[in-house]
Amino acid sequence: MKNIRLALFASGTGSNALNIIDHFAGHSCVEVAFVLTNRADALVVEKCRLRGVKTIILNNELVAEADVLFKICEEHKIDFIVLAGYLRLIPAELIEKYEERILNIHPSLLPKFGGKGMFGSRIHEAVISSGSKESGISIHYVNKNFDEGRIIAQFGCKVESTDTAETLGAKIKLLEQVYFPFVIQETVTSCIHD
Ligand code: GRF
Repeated sequence: MKNIRLALFASGTGSNALNIIDHFAGHSCVEVAFVLTNRADALVVEKCRLRGVKTIILNNELVAEADVLFKICEEHKIDFIVLAGYLRLIPAELIEKYEERILNIHPSLLPKFGGKGMFGSRIHEAVISSGSKESGISIHYVNKNFDEGRIIAQFGCKVESTDTAETLGAKIKLLEQVYFPFVIQETVTSCIHD
């Protein structure tokens, strides 16, 4: 069976990137080719180094260049790009070239609490102040607008009256760890079953 090669883009602590790397280690047909980051000091860099995973570090000017990203992806024969806590905008030309082949995870039930500036604990604070009784995660394709691409899967959790941004964030993190790798697996392998 053909190997499906993933590029992970990450800017943060890398809990999702590492979970995905561990999930696909030794997988029969899906492999992580590299992790790309725009932050040399991101925790994900050190974690990847310890795991022996190839890391590509580019500055913010370079990650805004579709040609630069596309060339790297082509050189590594990338089939899908997975954004795992990546905070820069993906250049429009790259989205066109990888149409419905770039996946993102967002820590709310989109379309609620998405869009520019909605990241990290801000989202959980906004959910709590809105009085919502439910939050969760959304895994979706990336299009030209932040958090507006077609939704692939969503998983919810209860928001209790005692929840803080921190406790809600911990519930969301757990959902991400449990579901994200399986949704990636289903999505990328379904294209070879079609
Ligand atoms: C996650 O909450 C994810 O939903 C969002 O960014 C965060 C990344 O966390 N897109 P980590 O770097 O994977 O720990």
